[in-house]
Amino acid sequence: MTEKREYTGDYPDKTLYLPGPTEVREDVIEAMAQPMFGHRMDRMTDLYTTIVEDTREFLDTDENVIVLTASGTEFWEATTLNLVDERMLVPTSGAFSERQANVAERLGKTVDRIEYEWGEAVKPADVRAALAGSDEGYDAVGVVMNETSTGVRNPVEEIGDLLGEYPDTYFVVDAISCLGGDYIDIEAHNIDCIFTSTQKAFAMPPGLAVCTVSDDAYERELETESASWYGGFQRCLDYYDRKGQTHSTPAIPVMLAYRKQMKHMLDEGHRERDRRHREMAEYTREWARKHFALYPEAGYESQTVTCIENTRRIDVAETVEAVSEEYDMVFSSGYGDIGEESFRIGHMGEHTVESIRALTDAIEDVAGL
Ligand SMILES: Cc1ncc(COP(=O)(O)O)c(C=O)c1O
Repeated sequence: MTEKREYTGDYPDKTLYLPGPTEVREDVIEAMAQPMFGHRMDRMTDLYTTIVEDTREFLDTDENVIVLTASGTEFWEATTLNLVDERMLVPTSGAFSERQANVAERLGKTVDRIEYEWGEAVKPADVRAALAGSDEGYDAVGVVMNETSTGVRNPVEEIGDLLGEYPDTYFVVDAISCLGGDYIDIEAHNIDCIFTSTQKAFAMPPGLAVCTVSDDAYERELETESASWYGGFQRCLDYYDRKGQTHSTPAIPVMLAYRKQMKHMLDEGHRERDRRHREMAEYTREWARKHFALYPEAGYESQTVTCIENTRRIDVAETVEAVSEEYDMVFSSGYGDIGEESFRIGHMGEHTVESIRALTDAIEDVAGL
């Protein structure tokens, strides 16, 4: 049993280089400190319609948008329940894609995996072969765009393009650790649902999840026996259409923060945000190659999270701890079983090449590189 450890409120501020939560601007944090208002007041309609429409503008999409009080995990469940009656195809290449497959199984669906070694990317040709080789076909294909555990960016655009030949198979993309920092044209690549959580490249506090829903996916839910209640596309979107509000009480303070940050994101623009993230990723990869090696398969490196292979056998846990103690900067050890074999730098959200360089300088100092 875990024992209570009293929260003292007395902790040093740390700069976060995690693959989420990440740094949040000061004015975005301040936006949350307002007196409460009711979720059925007109003010709520102003707030919710603003964040939904601003998100559509930012993502450059005409698809429906849901902003739900939940972490991103909710949309693994909701997209599966809403779109899949029987069978789902999930390529697995790391902890999060394995979890997406496990979630669908737990929900009673038949899941076919295409299994890759950790660090490898999903290959569109394998997805094509699995689709072509299946007699019954699949209700949906679920792909993790940015495998946070291995720092792999999967070619979801190409997978979406080939799915154009399978109109009855819905395409679900978990873009939790990259959306907002890695541009994607949603409609051009047949993506029915793509989702993220606010604490990642959107650089907001945690507490909300965002999902786009194609009209076809919305219609599909009508025929699905298992459709979700809380994450039901229709419940969420019909409530928005009728009232401009959410079907149940949302995390209002986080929505206030969302509104503020989405204005900053619109000012910068999605393409420019993509460019800045690419610059950070290139800088981090170059540093990693100089001192270590990259964990992901060449050519599939993430734009928001660099996973570094610990070729020098430094003590990762000790280095993370020392950088936190001495520099008040927090980065991540490797995920799960590859905890000491690798480590991860989250370069997402509001970070810049300069702020990432401050971390790599600190690592060099602590690890004696
Ligand atoms: C790729 C991916 N999928 C799903 C999740 C789960 O997201 P959340 O913690 O917001 O539920 C994460 C969290 O890191 C992730 O990186």
